Amino acid sequence: MKPVGIIGAMGLEVEKLKDCLQDRAETIYAGRHFYSGKLGNTNVVVVCSGIGKVNAAITTQILIDRFQVNSVINTGIAGGAHPDIRVRNVVISDTVVYHDMDPRILAIGYPHLEEFTADSRLIEKAKAACEGRVIWMVGKIATGDQFIADSAVKADIVARTNPCCVEMEGGAVAHTAAANGIPFVIIRCISDNADDSAEMDYETFEKLAADDAAAIVESMLA
Ligand code: ADE
Repeated sequence: MKPVGIIGAMGLEVEKLKDCLQDRAETIYAGRHFYSGKLGNTNVVVVCSGIGKVNAAITTQILIDRFQVNSVINTGIAGGAHPDIRVRNVVISDTVVYHDMDPRILAIGYPHLEEFTADSRLIEKAKAACEGRVIWMVGKIATGDQFIADSAVKADIVARTNPCCVEMEGGAVAHTAAANGIPFVIIRCISDNADDSAEMDYETFEKLAADDAAAIVESMLA
């Protein structure tokens, strides 16, 4: 059975998943450590991509080319951008956009999309894993190469893209998956509100939120 690729940007977002792999094997490509093994009965490859869109795209393409993953899950933390979302709630992607690129320019090139749509089967699995465990929301995620910690910057992103949360990799994972015809979903737990208090909240909640998201992924695959 082809493996599921699991990507987190930072070590703390994938450490727990990596540590509970059975029959773990490590391979290094492009400076990234790919951990193959089993989570329950599911073959997986867990990898830390590094922060930002380019790192996420490089890593996703390697998962597809070298490990022949049948789907990609991006796990991690995000800044809340929806009025009803709170720290430690979970956002499951339905669509993913870039907030730092004009979508009309993006759509000029293959796969000619202004936004990327997550796989409905993976969304359902993520919802089932969240149910009774965390407060969750399915919706749009906006990605850009910037940590958002300013209310005015956040307001501008919300006015243009209206996302549930902002983060720095999901769009690139989604874009790469879409270009290769591979199903994906992004699962993000909120660590801060992407506003003037974001830096402080982030420090307090990054580990807890990263573990919450990883636990959802583990439960999805169990
Ligand atoms: N990841 C977690 N919090 C974030 C924020 N405020 N902006 C961008 N990425 C994040």
